[in-house]
Amino acid sequence: MSKMGCIFDLDGVIVDTAKYHFKAWKRLANELGFDFDESQNEQLKGVSRYDSLNLILGWGGIEMSEEDKQKWMVTKNDWYLELITDMNDSEILDGVAPLLAELQFHKIPIALGSASKNSQRILNAVGISHFFQSVIDGNKVKKGKPDPETFLLGAEALGLSPNDCIVFEDAPKGVKAGKAGGFKVIGVGKSESLYEADYVIPGFSKVSYSTLFELFNRMN
Ligand code: BG6
Ligand code: MG
Repeated sequence: MSKMGCIFDLDGVIVDTAKYHFKAWKRLANELGFDFDESQNEQLKGVSRYDSLNLILGWGGIEMSEEDKQKWMVTKNDWYLELITDMNDSEILDGVAPLLAELQFHKIPIALGSASKNSQRILNAVGISHFFQSVIDGNKVKKGKPDPETFLLGAEALGLSPNDCIVFEDAPKGVKAGKAGGFKVIGVGKSESLYEADYVIPGFSKVSYSTLFELFNRMN
């Protein structure tokens, strides 16, 4: 039997926090005197806080010192944390919790591979921290997605090679990162934007251990 491990992105795969990131970034843009829309927000998915800020400032045509960028990042994160203060297990996306439990039952090693520096806090808030053997988050990586570092560290922590791991990603940049690292990648969302993935699923509600194992064996 081939080895199999799973590496999950967090935002947009396990929990729907993209809407809160969007709200907080929008508030920042508005305070700086401009706005951006949901299609632009798509480009921020999977992107680190610092890189997101730079993209947004670019849209607003704003230049700012590094010191001011640091201040705005703290402010944005405070607003984001305010939005997620009451977060609980009701925010876990459909099918995710039962799948994690099933994978654990079958002794499949699981890691988190997220750009978010708030990952551990969110896993704790929604009560699923115990499923993860390793949490690779924005505090641990030097190069963000689309660089594969996040997932490579995840595979290393699980003691598996990339080809033995399925990466689950909702962001085009995350899918790119997984493929660049030699992982099997399942896109979670719409195939129009996640076409670089090996497979795309709309969500986890119909995904079980056996369907994953079958897909794993079909991907190469
Ligand atoms: C990613 C999100 O998971 O984490 C991005 O998709 C976010 O939108 C990034 O900017 C960094 O998150 P945080 O929580 O460290 O600001
Ligand atoms: Mg994501």
